[in-house]
Amino acid sequence: MAIIKFPDGMKWGAATASYQIEGATSEDGRGPSIWDTFSKTAGKVVNGDNGDVACDSYHRYEEDIEIMKDLGITTYRFSVAWPRILPEGTGEVNQAGLDFYHRFVDKLIEIGIEPMCTLYHWDLPQALQNKGGWGNRETIDAFVSYAELMFKQFEGKIKYWITFNEPWCASFLSNYLGAHAPGFKDLQLATNVAHHLLVAHGKTVKKYRELNNEGGQIGYAPNVEWNEPFSNKQEDIDACRRANGWFIEWFMDPVFKGEYPSFMTEWFKEKEGVTVPILAGDMELIAQPIDFLGINYYTGSVSKHTDEGLLHHEQVNQGYQKTDIGWNVFPEGFYKVLVYIKDMYGNIPIYITENGSCYNDEPVNGQVKDKGRITYLRQHLTALRRAMDSGVNIKGYMTWSLLDNFEWAEGYSMRFGIVFVNYRTLERTKKDSFYWYKQTVKNNFIEI
Ligand code: BGC
Repeated sequence: MAIIKFPDGMKWGAATASYQIEGATSEDGRGPSIWDTFSKTAGKVVNGDNGDVACDSYHRYEEDIEIMKDLGITTYRFSVAWPRILPEGTGEVNQAGLDFYHRFVDKLIEIGIEPMCTLYHWDLPQALQNKGGWGNRETIDAFVSYAELMFKQFEGKIKYWITFNEPWCASFLSNYLGAHAPGFKDLQLATNVAHHLLVAHGKTVKKYRELNNEGGQIGYAPNVEWNEPFSNKQEDIDACRRANGWFIEWFMDPVFKGEYPSFMTEWFKEKEGVTVPILAGDMELIAQPIDFLGINYYTGSVSKHTDEGLLHHEQVNQGYQKTDIGWNVFPEGFYKVLVYIKDMYGNIPIYITENGSCYNDEPVNGQVKDKGRITYLRQHLTALRRAMDSGVNIKGYMTWSLLDNFEWAEGYSMRFGIVFVNYRTLERTKKDSFYWYKQTVKNNFIEI
């Protein structure tokens, strides 16, 4: 047995997102979002599930905060539902929506948990989608106005802001692969969306600086994977470079270097005739300095060249363990991607804004023995510490997720929580992983 210790001051937390946990989708003036529409479209979500009730956290937030208190976390990452604040996306403000988040944030602060707020975790107001959504540049200014309202409202209360969660998912997964709302399959549209999200991010950061929020910090949270070349053949190395580049460089080069990765944009142009709709001034806006980088990491793979598909890349089965959603358990990818990001972009402070696993264990006599999740967490925290020893500037770690919740296109069929939610009774049961993580938070070390 060995002990892996984390530095003093390491922040430990858990994460969730509004549409995945809140429910109450038509209460207190909330407008519809693209996820309400998408989940109610036949065939889009497993079992026809939707977020109408979810974990009912809109009503049960005090119980959830009690759970966090017991867990001992110092930080809680949550997202705000834009259509609760502005039911039409712009224009009239819904006071009841603001009041809900004030009650919630006040309670967190009262018990000493730092709120980390994501402004956009995918629930775009449907009214804006009706005008073209993120494919329409006007959505950028609508977002900046919403963000400004939130900054002003929560000044002094919320000190950590994240503009966008996983812009790759909100663009390519949602508008090219069609798996998430709004569900289009159009690569040019998805590329436009990705660009508009990045411009909206930069404009929002600029606005935040103008407001001079003392002591506050702002960043964003891209999702990354790691593709390790199957062989040292150049074609396998190139295929992995593209697969990684789609997640990493596409969404980080513009922010950190003020330019898109040409090896990716040229590939898109030559292969699919797709270009990025850059207007004068866009790249300067996107490249506003940020205070921290959020990283969401779940999986990776060994991959090689194929003549097919958008990126001419495919995974190779190397016998890795898989979680219940079918993703490889690939902790070495966590280490590698973090070191890669440091080498590429320097020593920016990093928060792991999501890391966790899907295991669908259920309670037996009141106990959920989710051994797989504990192993996953232990392995990933070991890899994280290794990255820290290699100089990656990690400030904190937030596990996904506090609660089992609405897992997007998988509905309620896939569970990522360290707390089990019975979707019939809405009762919460702390899993074995909850108690393991609680011990980790308290000790600031893990045993391996
Ligand atoms: C998202 C979460 C999601 C999780 C597991 C991330 O892509 O930010 O909302 O539940 O991964 O799929």
